Amino acid sequence: MKFFIDSANVEEIQKAVDLGLADGVTTNPTLLAKEKGTPEEIYKAICQIVDGPVCAEAISLDADEIIAESMNLAKIHDNIVIKIPATKDGLMAVNTLEKEGIKTNVTLIFSAMQALAAAKAGASYICPFVGRLDDTGQNGMELVEQILQIYENYGFTTEIVVASIRSIGHVQTAALIGAHIATIPYAIIEKLIKHPLTDAGIQSFLKDWEKISK
Ligand code: E4P
Repeated sequence: MKFFIDSANVEEIQKAVDLGLADGVTTNPTLLAKEKGTPEEIYKAICQIVDGPVCAEAISLDADEIIAESMNLAKIHDNIVIKIPATKDGLMAVNTLEKEGIKTNVTLIFSAMQALAAAKAGASYICPFVGRLDDTGQNGMELVEQILQIYENYGFTTEIVVASIRSIGHVQTAALIGAHIATIPYAIIEKLIKHPLTDAGIQSFLKDWEKISK
């Protein structure tokens, strides 16, 4: 299973790289808006520290404009993957860009049929937003299970990036059901590693170490 870091914060991403847990990065306009610097500066800085896909979102809505914007974004670095929303124009752009050798990640996926259409259009990655679905009373991880089943039925190679992750439970379920990738906020990466019994165990070992004659 691959971990992407869902962040545009270079310091956070560097920490995940140092932990050996950053196989790639997803950004979006909301994440970029929290940081200093132009999107291009931020993408360049991230590409310098992460050896893997770095997803940069196209904000155009018309197919031709998405394609033109994506071509420019793709020039920033070989590892740039273009995030494109799951719309009709978006999928038209995905179809063209993938044929040109530019990798795409279809984002804002909320249904299995959007995921099927994105795979058929040739997307390299898709992002089902599990947390935002949970917020509406639906079950985001159930959607991921359905997409996995559909992709397996037909041998699609599109990779599922479980997105909008809000808890360790989302990551654990993603791993149990075999999702290819989880894109995880850095705060949750830190929570994944921690366990109170580990901390308590260290404390008791240190205490006992003091009793040993050295
Ligand atoms: C995915 O690539 C998105 O950046 C992200 O997971 C959105 O999640 P949110 O619902 O926390 O904004």
